[in-house]
Amino acid sequence: MKFFVDTAEVSEIRSLAEAGLVDGVTTNPSLIAKSGRKMAEVIAEICAITPGPVSAEVTATEYEDMLAEGRYLREIAPNVAVKVPLTEAGLGTCRALSAEGTLVNVTLCFSAAQALLAAKAGATFISPFVGRLDDIATDGMLLIADIVKIYRNYPHIKTEVLVASIRHPIHLVEAAKLGAGVATLPPAVIRQLLKHPLTDRGLEAFLADWRKTGQSIL
Ligand code: E4P
Repeated sequence: MKFFVDTAEVSEIRSLAEAGLVDGVTTNPSLIAKSGRKMAEVIAEICAITPGPVSAEVTATEYEDMLAEGRYLREIAPNVAVKVPLTEAGLGTCRALSAEGTLVNVTLCFSAAQALLAAKAGATFISPFVGRLDDIATDGMLLIADIVKIYRNYPHIKTEVLVASIRHPIHLVEAAKLGAGVATLPPAVIRQLLKHPLTDRGLEAFLADWRKTGQSIL
């Protein structure tokens, strides 16, 4: 399973990349706003850190404008994945950009039917939002199960399921059990994945015993 980092904070991405935990990055207009920085600059910096796909989202809502934004964003770096919303204009833009060889991430997916349309439009990635479904008392993971199952029924579909809006480690583990290809995780959730009290306690005990030996390895 590939791990993308869901943030526009360059320092976070750099430190997680050093630990080998970054296969790609996703941003959205809210994350760019939170960074307080110019979108093109941030995307360029992120693309220089990771060779993996870096999603940069269009903000136009009409087809021609969306396509123009997508063509501009993809010039920032070869690993930019243009992110488009799951609307009619977004799917048209997805089709056009994919035909031109651009990576496209179709975002704001909340149903299996929408995921089928994104695959038909040639999306590289479909982003179903599990956390936002859970927020409205609908099991987001059932959507992942449906999409994975449907895509498997049609081996010609190359669209990867990119599980988005992940809020906690259980979302990730469940998505992996279902065989989703990619998960995008906020940095805080990636750090939560590392933690286990028995790891901390075990390490403390090993180091205490080691100190008693008076040895040092180097
Ligand atoms: C990533 O592509 C999505 O924009 C992001 O995961 C949404 O997460 P949120 O629902 O926590 O805002």
